[in-house]
Amino acid sequence: MAQQAPLTTADYAAPTSDHFAPADYVRFTNLVYQTCGIQLNASKQLMVETRLRKRLKETGAGTYRNYCKLLAQEDSHEELILLIDAITTNKTEFFREPAHFNYLSKKVLPDLGRRLKASRPIRVWSAGCSTGKEAYTLAMVLMDSQRSNIIQDFEILGTDICTQVLEKASQAVYLDTDIEPIPEALRKKYLLRSRAQGTPTFRIAPELRSTVRFQRLNFMDDKYFVDAPFDIVFCRNVIIYFDRPTQEQVVNKLAACLVPEGHFFTGHSETLSGLATRLNNVAPTIYRKATEG
Ligand SMILES: C[S@@+](CC[C@H](N)C(=O)[O-])C[C@H]1O[C@@H](n2cnc3c(N)ncnc32)[C@H](O)[C@@H]1O
Repeated sequence: MAQQAPLTTADYAAPTSDHFAPADYVRFTNLVYQTCGIQLNASKQLMVETRLRKRLKETGAGTYRNYCKLLAQEDSHEELILLIDAITTNKTEFFREPAHFNYLSKKVLPDLGRRLKASRPIRVWSAGCSTGKEAYTLAMVLMDSQRSNIIQDFEILGTDICTQVLEKASQAVYLDTDIEPIPEALRKKYLLRSRAQGTPTFRIAPELRSTVRFQRLNFMDDKYFVDAPFDIVFCRNVIIYFDRPTQEQVVNKLAACLVPEGHFFTGHSETLSGLATRLNNVAPTIYRKATEG
């Protein structure tokens, strides 16, 4: 087999239109890391290139080299937003990791309901909410508890860095394949069949929609401009894309937005062990903030 020639300056100067030149890819991944904390190593290059193809076309850049030049321009802010939209992984589901919602309705909500009574609404944050399925799942669980007089009022905030998923979350329209994980009884109460012709769609009922608000937020921001404090934070399947120092910073900023003894839920493949935080593990992938002092 022929040996691969070492990289020369030509590799940097004249990349093909199909792939990033190695130096461009490094610069590009550094930009993504600095902007949104997502780590993209060499093994992700093909996936990144596939996700960016539409941007190359829509910007007219045509090649990854030209696209990098475009990003280097001073007025590239808007393109950076679209680039993040293209690069983020937004996989989500209604009732994803259902044990969390069980724990919430059996343990967390009855306790909060007893302690808070009607003094103030319970406040929940779906941090990294993607298309809103997590936030609306939370809304269904909380509204059921409210209807059973276990809790009183509640409010839910959904945030994400990706503008496209936030748009979908606000529309609250989902395909019939999307709603499969929702138990039948809840579908009847909280979903409306869309009247539109063609692909069957469902919309979250207005009563439920009115309990959820969406806003763009980048976890890399120094300060989180949200109506803190929250009683419950769901940040699931998000920090998995960050390196350990970034995970620690993000988790601590989120924990700072929790009330003392507030609950923090992570994804099932994520762990906070080894991170210096004020969160104590109370059940698999469920944490509770330490009391003050
Ligand atoms: C895989 S989805 C998880 C959605 C949902 N939490 C769940 O578990 O089903 C991860 C979400 O985190 C968002 N995200 C990634 N980096 C982010 C950042 N720096 N700031 C805010 N959101 C980010 C992505 O846009 C994506 O929608």
